[in-house]
Amino acid sequence: MPPKMIAIDGPAASGKTTLGRRLADYLGYLFVDTGVMYRAVTWAALQRGIDIHDEARLTALAEEVQIDILPPSQNDGRFYDVRMDHQDITWEIRNPQVEAAVSIVSAYPGVRRALTAQQRRIGLRGRVVMVGRDIGTVVLPEADLKIYLDASPEERARRRFAELQARGEAADYGAILQNVRERDQIDSTRQVAPLQAAPDAIHIDSDGLTAEEVFERVRELCR
Ligand code: DC
Repeated sequence: MPPKMIAIDGPAASGKTTLGRRLADYLGYLFVDTGVMYRAVTWAALQRGIDIHDEARLTALAEEVQIDILPPSQNDGRFYDVRMDHQDITWEIRNPQVEAAVSIVSAYPGVRRALTAQQRRIGLRGRVVMVGRDIGTVVLPEADLKIYLDASPEERARRRFAELQARGEAADYGAILQNVRERDQIDSTRQVAPLQAAPDAIHIDSDGLTAEEVFERVRELCR
């Protein structure tokens, strides 16, 4: 029997999404990328002109907005639609302004409380692969398979760089590497639910491994 609840955590650009999507496909499970929810709240704040340092307003926003993750409505490289109050924001949440602000927003306890509650509700139904920073530790500590996927900052920056280039967007490797390091620093030192491996997580270092090799390892673990 494969595990019913799979948690995948790790730093930015470690390959969690690629692995998670593949695994969910293979098992016929729901794939939930929780980073999307933090990005959506950040995007909404920027859009509405809310100061991202205003913790109280950000918390209220996270409690009030409706974030929907739906099957893809367009064939433009997306794997799902992200909608907020019916507006399609799938690509908007990947822009550099969101990228620069999301670690600040996701450090607020009130924002985390609101989004964690939603994630837990989805996860507890089972047959789910959930990806993030705190899934095995906080969102779904009862997950029956926990993976902590890591890679060096340089390798992760290379992957982000290649992703942006493939989408035809301007990319600067040095700036990306700096952003990866800053996000690691903020994500792993915040007070609430910092990036951390659960004690019972299986560590995989993906430096020097292809996405295929990482998937094969985890597929073995599912047996
Ligand atoms: O995985 P990502 O790059 O889309 O995540 C965006 C941000 O959200 C990242 O800075 C960390 C934060 N995040 C979090 O704090 N907890 C999660 N479960 C998922 C993401």
